Amino acid sequence: MKQYFLIIIGALLLVLPGCYYDVESELYPKNLNTSACDSTAVTYQTKVLPIIQANCYACHAGSAEGGGNILLEGYANLQKVASDGRLYRAVSHTGPSPMPKGGNKLSACDIETINRWIQIGIPNN
Ligand code: HEC
Repeated sequence: MKQYFLIIIGALLLVLPGCYYDVESELYPKNLNTSACDSTAVTYQTKVLPIIQANCYACHAGSAEGGGNILLEGYANLQKVASDGRLYRAVSHTGPSPMPKGGNKLSACDIETINRWIQIGIPNN
């Protein structure tokens, strides 16, 4: 009887860690940034992508049906709307489609980060 008990405990220990999920928005809440805005070392991977993932992928990734079929997933797709000016107009609310649609405007720092990324040539880094 005791052996079975140990086997069950052992099996649970093997299975349970698989039930742990990291939710990015919980680990890195976007409004937790209380330090000054640092838009000097902007890269696609470290600065721009996390903003877009957290605020835009809900509608603009996967099938992108909720995002008017405009796909912003991955560098190449974002690069298109960044280079024709639509990305900045959308996040700065200076164009016809203010984004995130129906949500709060991005923080001034996030908007400045995106602006900076465009100004330095939309690098894929
Ligand atoms: C709730 C869904 C939703 C979210 C979240 C969202 N969008 Fe959109 N987006 C749309 C829809 C729908 C359209 C189609 C145009 C329209 O309805 O205004 C669109 C259109 C756009 C366009 C094209 C605008 C144009 O001028 O053609 C861009 C660029 C864009 N979104 C960027 C973003 C960015 C960047 C974010 C995140 C900061 C974002 N969107 C978040 C739904 C969303």
